[in-house]
Amino acid sequence: MSTAISPTAYNYKVVRQFAIMTVVWGILGMGLGVFIASQLVWPELNFDLPWTTFGRLRPLHTNLGIFAFVGCALFATSYYVVQRTCQTRLISDSLAAFTFWGWQAVIVGAIVTLPMGFTTTKEYAELEWPLAILLAIVWVTYGLVFFGTIVKRKTKHIYVGNWFYGAFIVVTAMLHIVNHASLPVSFFKSYSAYSGATDAMIQWWYGHNAVGFFLTTGFLGMMYYFVPKQAERPIYSYRLSIVHFWALITLYIWAGPHHLHYTALPDWAQSLGMAMSIILLAPSWGGMINGMMTLSGAWHKLRTDPILRFLVVSLAFYGMSTFEGPMMAIKTVNSLSHYTDWTIGHVHAGALGWVAMISIGAIYHMIPKLFGRAQMHSTGLINAHFWLATIGTVLYIASMWVNGITQGLMWRAINDDGTLTYSFVEALQASHPGFIVRALGGAFFASGMLFMAYNVYRTVRASDPAEAEAAAKIAVVGAH
Ligand code: HEM
Ligand code: HEM
Repeated sequence: MSTAISPTAYNYKVVRQFAIMTVVWGILGMGLGVFIASQLVWPELNFDLPWTTFGRLRPLHTNLGIFAFVGCALFATSYYVVQRTCQTRLISDSLAAFTFWGWQAVIVGAIVTLPMGFTTTKEYAELEWPLAILLAIVWVTYGLVFFGTIVKRKTKHIYVGNWFYGAFIVVTAMLHIVNHASLPVSFFKSYSAYSGATDAMIQWWYGHNAVGFFLTTGFLGMMYYFVPKQAERPIYSYRLSIVHFWALITLYIWAGPHHLHYTALPDWAQSLGMAMSIILLAPSWGGMINGMMTLSGAWHKLRTDPILRFLVVSLAFYGMSTFEGPMMAIKTVNSLSHYTDWTIGHVHAGALGWVAMISIGAIYHMIPKLFGRAQMHSTGLINAHFWLATIGTVLYIASMWVNGITQGLMWRAINDDGTLTYSFVEALQASHPGFIVRALGGAFFASGMLFMAYNVYRTVRASDPAEAEAAAKIAVVGAH
């Protein structure tokens, strides 16, 4: 490793801000997840108030999970990775600061408007038009900062992680802008520009690719940087990473109709969505294997390095959820799984096991570097966090599998005379134990985040501001 010093300092300020807010929003989003999970166990927790009902808090949970927690993790890591791999500072500090404050404003807007009941009713696109426009402006600015930085890079090559981040930024802008096309009728109400089956198809083209690009492609960018860095090994196959990139982005965009099986959507579109979803297994697993195999010769590090463990276990959950997804996309399987808790289990295998775990690993990797410390305050606490997160995820998804299959089978059971064997309430009663286990699993996961907050706080507090600035100024060539 050479120690040549670059004349430009990196902009670590914005990375630090987004990294800290990832932890803050993670706690709030997951805390709210535990709360709504508890509402399903004890309905009294709805408090008979409109703004605290499950129906209003659920979309707030998904928005905090996806946009606040996950969004901040993506901003933090992409700004970090693009600077280090391009060996240059972000193209504009003020635009980067605007993306930070603009993004926080969108989130605060969600926290205020969703419990009040203002919603477009489109899942994961609930924010009404003024907030949706702000989000679009922030996002386009993000694109300018990211791609502008790539353009002024000091390296010849564009590292593959940036390809993934770049695709995530471009496609998210496209999805958000197209799906949000609407006619405002007041400051808080708008109607979609689309109607009927077209509206449904546009919505799930958006919804599925929000999963594919927001919750997956950006995180693969994270994987391609943080797994090799933490394992101190080069990526297993650079060639495979390029094939992985093109195959993934080409296939994901077609799979949306699997959310609309057995609906008014034309049958051919449903079958196409199903076929593309099954093919999607190949690039998903190709990428997962590329990440895992990067550990060749470094597996022993898992014994002592809980950060690496977060990263590797996240890949295992990624592999699991991208096996489960194509299976659920098969129409006959979907006829059982759709509307049941199986889908919820699948979502959180991805959201907790993959997305949250890799983000947590990446944040633990970055925090000491951002604040000029050699390492996190306590490795023991990271280890405790790892086990809480892993056990929490397993409790969550296992209980939802049991519930989902129970519900699916009970709903479709019929007596000899053609009447339903079970009433809906009986299926709900059978789900109650699973709801308790899910709330417990969620509480495990969320309490791990509190350990993280304490650990981050101690690391930041112990940091020497001068050293932290020096860390940003010293770009060690070859250590990106
Ligand atoms: C402690 C952790 C968490 C708990 C306890 C939790 C709990 C819940 C609950 C109870 C629901 C509603 C399920 C239903 O309607 O039956 C839900 C939905 C959802 N959550 Fe979470 N959640 C957690 C973390 C997260 C995170 C970190 C994310 C995102 C990264 C996330 C994304 C979602 C999504 C997308 C849905 C909607 C699923 C669908 O409509 O199919 N959750 N969560
Ligand atoms: C090859 C990859 C994947 C495929 C083919 C796939 C397929 C599916 C299918 C078939 C459904 C159920 C649709 C329904 O019955 O309504 C679903 C739901 C969902 N999946 Fe996946 N999945 C994949 C990976 C992932 C990953 C990695 C994540 C998260 C990080 C994820 C997040 C979700 C969410 C949030 C939903 C719920 C959407 C909703 O109804 O609100 N998926 N997925």
